[in-house]
Amino acid sequence: MIEPTIYQKIREAVEAIQKHSGDRFPQGPAIGVILGSGLGSIADEATDTVTIPYTDIPHFHGTSVEGHAGKMILGNFHGTPTVFLQGRFHLYEGYRMADVVFPTRAVCGLGIQTLVLTNAAGGVNTRYRPADLMLIEDHLNLMGDNPLKGPNLAQLGPRFPDLSEAYSHECLHVLEQCAEELRIPVHRGVYAGLLGPTYETPAEIRMYRALGADAVGMSTVPETIAANHLGVRVAGLSCITNLAAGLSPQKLTHQEVIENSRLGAEKMKRILRAAIPRLVHRPAEGGP
Ligand code: HPA
Repeated sequence: MIEPTIYQKIREAVEAIQKHSGDRFPQGPAIGVILGSGLGSIADEATDTVTIPYTDIPHFHGTSVEGHAGKMILGNFHGTPTVFLQGRFHLYEGYRMADVVFPTRAVCGLGIQTLVLTNAAGGVNTRYRPADLMLIEDHLNLMGDNPLKGPNLAQLGPRFPDLSEAYSHECLHVLEQCAEELRIPVHRGVYAGLLGPTYETPAEIRMYRALGADAVGMSTVPETIAANHLGVRVAGLSCITNLAAGLSPQKLTHQEVIENSRLGAEKMKRILRAAIPRLVHRPAEGGP
């Protein structure tokens, strides 16, 4: 049997999702949201939901990390048809980059206009405090890999995609505006994506700060690259769950990350409640 191409696999996943969601979302979702560690509850406010376990979607894997549920939720989020991914795949789990970004590609294949990526991150910037939020302005890909490595699939996007606005300025502006209206302080900063699964050493954190990182984490960068390749604009939000290694006398634990991300999730939820309807992009008349 000939192995299906990534494009064919995406089509199969998209068709299966559409079959599950039936007539509920005939136009498809307008916004996609990938929920990071401990941030899954953001999807709780969606109504008229259809929940699809990843195990029911062709070519999706289960997830193995605590705080990552492994299901897709399609629903109405304060008036906007939205698809949430509760649980993501990480490179450190041993997945190939193509598997890490498969859910992103499937969600983009549903026809979303904006992808909101959320994550838990360690604060490298010394002004950041646990449970602060950071709007991602740009990233450093320090994962040592790229989801677009290998033959390019022209059906998905160009061989050499531009990343000079990997995180849409317009989306950043909307998120910042919403945070300001709600009087929720937020930072704007650079997210460094690392392989993990170890947390960093204090010396590494000093190096990442010198390189221009404000926060570090083990996700988001692959999804941002895959969405940009597909021409879908990205908004990124980090919840600073801990001070990065060497900045606090405490040792880092996943438990601390989960606890603080739950605190940050409440603020993130309020911002997204206001921002999601404003992130629906209406192409200009006569546009594509
Ligand atoms: N380092 C890397 N990834 C993380 C951290 C951290 O300190 N906190 C949450 N995700």
